[in-house]
Amino acid sequence: MAHAPPHLFRPLNLGPLTLPNRIVIAPMCQYSATDGSAGDWHRVHLGSLALSGAGLLVLEATAVSATGRITPQCLGLYSDDNEAALAGIVRVLRAASPIPLAVQLSHAGRKASSQAPWDGGQQIASHTPGGWRAEAPSALPHGDGEEAPDALDADGLARVQAAFVVAARRAERIGLQGIELHAAHGYLLHQFLSPLSNRRSDDFGGSLDNRLRFPLAVFDAVKAAVQIPVWVRVSASDWVDGGWDAATTLAFAQALQARGCAALHVSSGGVSPQQRIPLGPGYQLPLARALKAALTMPVIGVGLITEPAQAEAAIADGDCDAVAMARAILYDPRWPWHAAAALGAQVPAPPPYWRCAPREVKDLFSGLRFGQR
Ligand SMILES: Cc1cc2nc3c(=O)[nH]c(=O)nc-3n(C[C@H](O)[C@H](O)[C@H](O)COP(=O)(O)O)c2cc1C
Repeated sequence: MAHAPPHLFRPLNLGPLTLPNRIVIAPMCQYSATDGSAGDWHRVHLGSLALSGAGLLVLEATAVSATGRITPQCLGLYSDDNEAALAGIVRVLRAASPIPLAVQLSHAGRKASSQAPWDGGQQIASHTPGGWRAEAPSALPHGDGEEAPDALDADGLARVQAAFVVAARRAERIGLQGIELHAAHGYLLHQFLSPLSNRRSDDFGGSLDNRLRFPLAVFDAVKAAVQIPVWVRVSASDWVDGGWDAATTLAFAQALQARGCAALHVSSGGVSPQQRIPLGPGYQLPLARALKAALTMPVIGVGLITEPAQAEAAIADGDCDAVAMARAILYDPRWPWHAAAALGAQVPAPPPYWRCAPREVKDLFSGLRFGQR
């Protein structure tokens, strides 16, 4: 009888979407769009990742409004031009690879109007070229000395929620197969969750139930607007005393699960410059493990997962149901091929590349037929 494949290479369902394996390409901002529209860089970059053999490719944080971009070069899905440009990219990816494609929808909140990291990542003052007024739950700046954002009023909340819905519909219309809502890394939805950034005194601030209210309303509205699965990326800790933590994340996750959330993607940090992140291999997996133990929806782990055996163990030992990776797969876009070779599994690869399989690695590429010369 054939051996069961390694855990990393078993299929996983995110709602109705079946991933052929459990390697997820984490969303990675490219800061290379023009007025929110994808271009040739995205074609090349995503084209490369689409041939990786991973089970899911999550497109970078994609802004639901121009003011929700982190930088002026961030990708967006807030205009017809943005939609047409991304539709063109999806067509290219589809022609080259069957990899499932999702998008991370995002609003940067008070972390908007910033420079790209390679330009220093500083806030761009609203009155200077390229800058704009940021909006957030409360008029509290992210860092000392930064310009405070405008606190969203009731109309503003409705506008932001509607922008998430419109962007989600655009994503579905162009053939993307899943939506990850960005509620991590100190961006707008996380800013509502964390008591460090949310000091509102209305129904959307104060108690935990109140701080969950806007992110849950956005989730409900997006979920109701599309057929494709919707899941959420969270920061499961602010890594600051008195901040958002594992217990409050669980409350949020349970509410999401009850509403039909397809998965929880467990990251951490980003809301406060005071954070002390315990960086190290698999450093966020303990957070994922604790949440997975209390949830039935799939949990995606992420953070310095770089080795095939480490990724396999994370799933086999019950830390998470899938592993996401960012830096390691940028460094080695064929990481899933190498992991399959190391673990004795098969990985999807395009037929024109099949001849590259090393002789000593038997049956590396699924679909490969022998006897060809
Ligand atoms: C170039 C780059 C861009 C990133 N952009 C995003 C993003 O758009 N959305 C997001 O949630 N996280 C983003 N991240 C964080 C990654 O998704 C991931 O959580 C983090 O890098 C830890 O995983 P790793 O150790 O495998 O790199 C980015 C990371 C990198 C390296």
